[in-house]
Amino acid sequence: MRVRLRLRPDCFPVRTADGATWLVAMSARDELTPTVAGRLTAGQDSVTQRRDAYARGEADDDLVLGTADGDRLGPPVAHQLGELTPENRRALLALCEKPGLAVDDGEGADALVADLLAGGWLETRVADARPAYLMRPVAPPPARPAPVPEDPVLSRFAVVRRCGQALVVESPLAWCEIHLSDPALLSVVSGAGAPPGDEVAHRLLSDLAAAGLVVQRAAQEPADRWAPHELWFHARTRSNPMRCEPFGPAQALSEPLPARHVPFAGPAEPLHRPSASPLGTVLERRRSLRRHDDDTPVTTEQLGEFLFRCARNRWLVEKDGVEHISRPYPSASSGYELEIYPVVRLVGGLEPGLYHYDAQEHQLRRGVAGIDAPTRRLLRLAATMAGMPRQPQVLLVMTARFARLMRNYDAISYALIAKHVGVVQQVMYLVATELGLAPCALGTGDSAAFSAATGLDALREASVGEFILGSRPSAVGSP
Ligand SMILES: Cc1cc2nc3c(=O)[nH]c(=O)nc-3n(C[C@H](O)[C@H](O)[C@H](O)COP(=O)(O)O)c2cc1C
Repeated sequence: MRVRLRLRPDCFPVRTADGATWLVAMSARDELTPTVAGRLTAGQDSVTQRRDAYARGEADDDLVLGTADGDRLGPPVAHQLGELTPENRRALLALCEKPGLAVDDGEGADALVADLLAGGWLETRVADARPAYLMRPVAPPPARPAPVPEDPVLSRFAVVRRCGQALVVESPLAWCEIHLSDPALLSVVSGAGAPPGDEVAHRLLSDLAAAGLVVQRAAQEPADRWAPHELWFHARTRSNPMRCEPFGPAQALSEPLPARHVPFAGPAEPLHRPSASPLGTVLERRRSLRRHDDDTPVTTEQLGEFLFRCARNRWLVEKDGVEHISRPYPSASSGYELEIYPVVRLVGGLEPGLYHYDAQEHQLRRGVAGIDAPTRRLLRLAATMAGMPRQPQVLLVMTARFARLMRNYDAISYALIAKHVGVVQQVMYLVATELGLAPCALGTGDSAAFSAATGLDALREASVGEFILGSRPSAVGSP
């Protein structure tokens, strides 16, 4: 059996002008096509095939990638390796190239390799006479991976699918995917165990268990309340910086669909057109605004009025041991599972940080003081998603307390949560418009960064929606 380590295919090393080396993970759809090791040996600062690309280390372990024409890329997931020793440089080059670094070939670079494994930057490739399987991280591995259970069975959240020539075993609960090159290994995955003396099969079983893809038969899994398709949908539609899946214009669907539906053949019935009304005026004025006026930031008073109009509890009553509430927006079976966490960069009269909105008492309670690494990641992703030159004054992160809905709706709960986020976003747009603020909904956010910032158990309460808010520049140009 041979075991080799390789850098994940979506990662590449970058050297900044100060001589530091970073590892960067980015989607292949991002405009900068990564080049690999050559750049490192040559000691060039350029990181990609685009000549005008630059990489700049910033405070607090942030790396900025950009191009001369002002495009900022990312935010990439970056890991600083600092100045490399010759041994580390050799090991890093071997990790970038085929066939990779044999586990005992990295002499003098043990600490570097251990650091990269702990960060989820390396694939492990296992081969016998032929390639057998590889483990590809999608998150850093836990400090103590699970041992092989006595009676192993495939997790009910795991799926096996084909990807190219390989069969991929993956789960939204697993920190890595396992790609099988040898289909005979499927018997290990399906729970038949590993035949005595088969070294590769035994190692695979232990890797499947370590990944959380194989668990003890009949044991409770931490996500048992979830329907598998809902956990999959949640995990794959939130931004996972380690997964680097592209979202954005799909090349395959290049033919645009006409905006207007093909008219039906029946006779037309012209409809009444209303005259102006207060609600109609707000609806007509509503638009997404992606610039904030930092000279006159949004005030605590405005934020208070905004949250009061959008999301406070209008009343709370207890009936048969269940608390029922009402808010200004509708919610399936009055589930009201959504919570709001304002991430404040700049609000007049409020310290920067992450707050929880207590909808019952209509007050904010601070969860994180100041902007730490996870909260900065939330703000940076929001700015990138909205193409904003600066981070938003306020990012409103919406979470769901899943059990509030799962009690009543079981396997359609997540679909309802997504609808509720849309309902709240429209209310937020209208209230912000009425208040003369700059609103914009966002399509996704980084649930892992939110969990890291708050320490909340992501299977019970996780971020499911985002909205940005700020003061409206007096001369609103391009939105
Ligand atoms: C669910 C949803 C997700 C959105 N995601 C983003 C986003 O990620 N970035 C962004 O800049 N705008 C986003 N928007 C705003 C839309 O781009 C915007 O509503 C659309 O272009 C129409 O423009 P208008 O809102 O000014 O009328 C989103 C809007 C909705 C409703």
